[in-house]
Amino acid sequence: MLSGKKILIGITGSIAAYKIPFLIRLLVKEGAEVQVLLTENARDFVTPLTISTLSKHPALTYPFNSADGSWTNHVELGNWADLMLIAPATAATLSKMANGLADNLLMATYLSAKCPVFFAPAMDLDMYNHPSTKKNIEQLKAFGHRLIEPQVGELASGLTGAGRLEEPENILKIINAFFLHNNELTGKQILVTAGPTYEPIDPVRFIGNHSSGLMGFSIAEECANRGATVTLISGPTHLKSDNKAIRCIDVISANEMYEQTIKEFAHVDIVFMSAAVADFTPSHPSDKKIKKESGTPVIKLKPTKDILLELGKLKQKNQILIGFALETDNEIENAKTKLNTKNLDLIVLNSLKDEGAGFGYPTNKVTLINNSGKKWEYGLKTKKEVASDILDVVTTMIKKGQAF
Ligand code: CTP
Repeated sequence: MLSGKKILIGITGSIAAYKIPFLIRLLVKEGAEVQVLLTENARDFVTPLTISTLSKHPALTYPFNSADGSWTNHVELGNWADLMLIAPATAATLSKMANGLADNLLMATYLSAKCPVFFAPAMDLDMYNHPSTKKNIEQLKAFGHRLIEPQVGELASGLTGAGRLEEPENILKIINAFFLHNNELTGKQILVTAGPTYEPIDPVRFIGNHSSGLMGFSIAEECANRGATVTLISGPTHLKSDNKAIRCIDVISANEMYEQTIKEFAHVDIVFMSAAVADFTPSHPSDKKIKKESGTPVIKLKPTKDILLELGKLKQKNQILIGFALETDNEIENAKTKLNTKNLDLIVLNSLKDEGAGFGYPTNKVTLINNSGKKWEYGLKTKKEVASDILDVVTTMIKKGQAF
């Protein structure tokens, strides 16, 4: 699957470096050509001989060889790679990457690399959670680099938490997926809505729902990772995206989301309507705080605009509309009805009956149904994985011309 791909790995000084020889073996087995840079500290954890034997290339640490006066050309190495992976990336190396501190061959090569860069942090949980580490990671993501998140588990310190280097098999999966899907959606303009909406009762109170926005943000991220330009219209959430390919528009109420979505719709190829839009809003929100003395208020509601229904009416032949359905009973039937009445190409159904799925969970269990009645059912997965499954179906539909 990786035949002909050139992968440059940078190993830094963490105990998790012991996992990298396994990764190199897996990559080479898949047909990739692998070259490896080690920092001096990394050599304490994994030997250059192991690395050079497995990668079939010299293990590189020093910019100069004093014995013969030769120079390792970091610019050439940086240009050679189709993908650079820094794994494990220590807190020190993350800091150097974020600040451009080229004090070793790995860093000089990183600064010269023109290819996509992935980084997989590994460190103790308190180091990982330190604001400076978080800030450096945000900076690297803002550079367009891809974070391979550390796993939660037992750490070398004996503590348990986030900081374990992702397993080699999973890093391989991420690299494979990158080469498979990279640029798949290049040139596509995609609109994603996410999160809840808040409907004002008075200046301090609102009617909202439990949506965290994670499903929509994961979809936006996955679209950007596949090369699309994304507009993300989000209701109030704690999430933020610093991906350069994602333009964020923050809204609060269903009506604001309606206005922004309609404004953007004409310019986009694909819409993922994953926001949990309120169906009702107070008819007469008070402009002053409602006081107790006035007695128990009766709040009269009026329906909001069904944004997706409106988009379905406006949809052109070359646009793809994807809706979501959150159901508690008659799930498939209800989802199919929404698919038809809202003129959708695909609907993502999640049932509140499924344990661990839907609002407030990091996981979701979905069934996709397209407008020809074809169904795709999945098990419980992280919302990131669900986003990738949804995008796989959408890109297959585009390739087969079904969705246009
Ligand atoms: N939706 C929308 N505008 C609304 C309500 C919902 O665009 N005012 C969209 C949602 O973003 C979702 C789809 O419609 O993609 C289905 O939402 P859901 O809440 O499951 O269904 P509703 O159409 O609101 O119907 P009901 O609440 O009666 O199930």
